[in-house]
Amino acid sequence: MENIYLVGFMGTGKSDVGKILARSLERDFLEMDELIEKSEKTTISQIFAEKGEAYFRTCEKKLLAELAQKSDFVISCGGGLICNQENADLLKKSGKVINLKASAKEIVRRTKHCKNRPLLNTLNPTKTINKLLAEREPFYSQAHIAIDTDKITAQAAANLIIQHLRD
Ligand code: S3P
Repeated sequence: MENIYLVGFMGTGKSDVGKILARSLERDFLEMDELIEKSEKTTISQIFAEKGEAYFRTCEKKLLAELAQKSDFVISCGGGLICNQENADLLKKSGKVINLKASAKEIVRRTKHCKNRPLLNTLNPTKTINKLLAEREPFYSQAHIAIDTDKITAQAAANLIIQHLRD
């Protein structure tokens, strides 16, 4: 079976929902950020700080090329992965793409104590989130399925995805 990719902005619950979904579907779960941290032997924040965002995007792209050769995995993608049309095309070709959505207000609430998201480490995270959400919408909207996570638990989001996959 093809992979299931969870995409969407930071703080939309891709990791939590992905783990539950993988357990329910009896599939293995992979977290792209974790795999990059392992292969680069450092944290995402350090990669951004020392080598820059462009280097990180290259790591993501190479990893996606490897993962797209596999099947059956539930994969939580970094929030910016799909925001490159070649990546978006490969995601859609090699699996089902699920976009987890949340409002800017909820994303601010969920990410405000988090230290390991370098893109949100700005003077005005709310403004940054709104700007990035607007820029990224044309990419996120290419997903096969969209789930609004604002008012539901990770378990409920996973259940909704399973329903959609059956339809
Ligand atoms: C990013 C999201 C992060 C991580 C990196 C860049 C983004 O992943 O890949 O900090 O560009 O949205 P999460 O969405 O898992 O936080």
